[in-house]
Amino acid sequence: FKIPAIDNEPMRSYAPGSVERKALEAAIAEMEQQLPFEVPCIVNGKEVRTGKIAKQPLPHDHARHLCTYHEADEATVASAIEGALAAKAEWESLPWNDRAAIFLKAADLVSGKYRYKLLAATILGQGKNAWQAEIDAAAEFADFLRFGVKFVEELYAQQPSKNAPGAWNRVEYRALEGFVLAVSPFNFTAIGGNLPGTPALVGNVVVWKPSPAATYSNYLIQKIFAEAGVPAGVIQFTPGPPAEVVAQAINNRNFAALHFTGSTFIFKKLWKDISANLDLYKGYPRIVGETGGKNFHLVHKSADIRNAVIQTIRGAFEYQGQKCSALSRLYVSASVWNAGFKDQLLSEIAKIKIGAPTDFSNFMGPVMRVLSKPHIFGRPAYDKIIGYIQKAKDAGGEVLIGGTGDDSKGYFIQPTVILSKDPKSVTLVEEIFGPVITVSLYEDEDYEKTLDIIDSTTDYALTGAIFAADRKALLTATNRLRNSAGNVYYNDKCTGAVVGQQPFGGGRASGTNDKAGSISIFYRFVSARSIKENF
Ligand code: ALA
Repeated sequence: FKIPAIDNEPMRSYAPGSVERKALEAAIAEMEQQLPFEVPCIVNGKEVRTGKIAKQPLPHDHARHLCTYHEADEATVASAIEGALAAKAEWESLPWNDRAAIFLKAADLVSGKYRYKLLAATILGQGKNAWQAEIDAAAEFADFLRFGVKFVEELYAQQPSKNAPGAWNRVEYRALEGFVLAVSPFNFTAIGGNLPGTPALVGNVVVWKPSPAATYSNYLIQKIFAEAGVPAGVIQFTPGPPAEVVAQAINNRNFAALHFTGSTFIFKKLWKDISANLDLYKGYPRIVGETGGKNFHLVHKSADIRNAVIQTIRGAFEYQGQKCSALSRLYVSASVWNAGFKDQLLSEIAKIKIGAPTDFSNFMGPVMRVLSKPHIFGRPAYDKIIGYIQKAKDAGGEVLIGGTGDDSKGYFIQPTVILSKDPKSVTLVEEIFGPVITVSLYEDEDYEKTLDIIDSTTDYALTGAIFAADRKALLTATNRLRNSAGNVYYNDKCTGAVVGQQPFGGGRASGTNDKAGSISIFYRFVSARSIKENF
């Protein structure tokens, strides 16, 4: 069989008065009326209520909760691991066409029947506005599922090109021996689905620990997988205290792989914990992680100012700067800065509307209250971001706009631009994960020196964008910044990679660069076996 032609999911605009706007508004209103929902763990296809209750608050309204959920306890995680291993043989031996059909059906459920519900959960629970929710929970998620099927079909087709006379060589792409642990973040519902989905598609079984701050949308995903036909036990939904659930999984002899998106700090810790356990495991676990970023825009004197300003605002402030790919450091030619860039940047930012993501006219919403320590060093994200702004001021940085927040009802922070004379100032070096950018100006004759500064300022290497009409400037930067970013954009913002178009991921402290949204990542979750047959 050949799988059907795959294309990117068309995005809906939610224009005022449109049918789709009305449908989404109705889904949000219905969800607001019904909340808080009760979310169990799902293990072996059954709901498990442990009674260890935690809450997922609305980031734009502290007083309300989207859901209360049952945290997986030790017995639940143990039965999730055992049940996953028991489900493995049947799942991995299912004909590929059947696994493919299940994932294609899941994609159709995401783009059709459950689209507005997934969006509403992402808007209310994760603080995204309608458009940001659409590109994530609808479009990117459906794309991950459909393109995943296409990539795996291509992977399985990769066979030895030569056979000696009288023999036939072939390669079988087996699932890993054991189970995969998926640990997913709050900031993309699509990544929530993709971290368990990618390994499961190639026949693995998965214990999935979603982010506490994305519990409800991720629970809906688990239900979609089940409705699409993913058998009981193949993906085990175990929300819970991150340290405990994860430790229990990686202390198990059958742990085969980690599929992680989250902070660099936690990823490094898990890698060390896994290394310390090597004698326990049956094999060498695969470790796949996408972590932090300190992403840059570089504006050359030949840049189109208007385009650079608009892309800078979008890269920095869409979803309140909480994409791992978000713009955080901005290097601008002083001549361009003074020739209108600064004025346009500040006047456009002044027009940005901030507020509840349920109001479609708001460009920005709240920052998330991430609960897990030490991801935010024991404080809500809001305090951390405001703290960084203060540190920049203390170090002589000038706040050009923003700099303040309001946490009386939800966690709102103004889009903030800091001008720094020190290229090593803390807000140019450390990840903030909020709507704050720091500007560093350079003289045109120092363009190449600035490339060195961009490359050496932080440990991260996720995304970056270069704005220039001059081809030579693009080329010089691309060569010098060879290892500074896994995703590079020319004259476009540094966010918004599209599945099947720009494989996504970075190197250095930003991750293992296994490229989500491409065939590459599937290699990490299979273990090939060569078979030679003599006739
Ligand atoms: N893949 C997401 C982006 O590129 C994080 O913005």
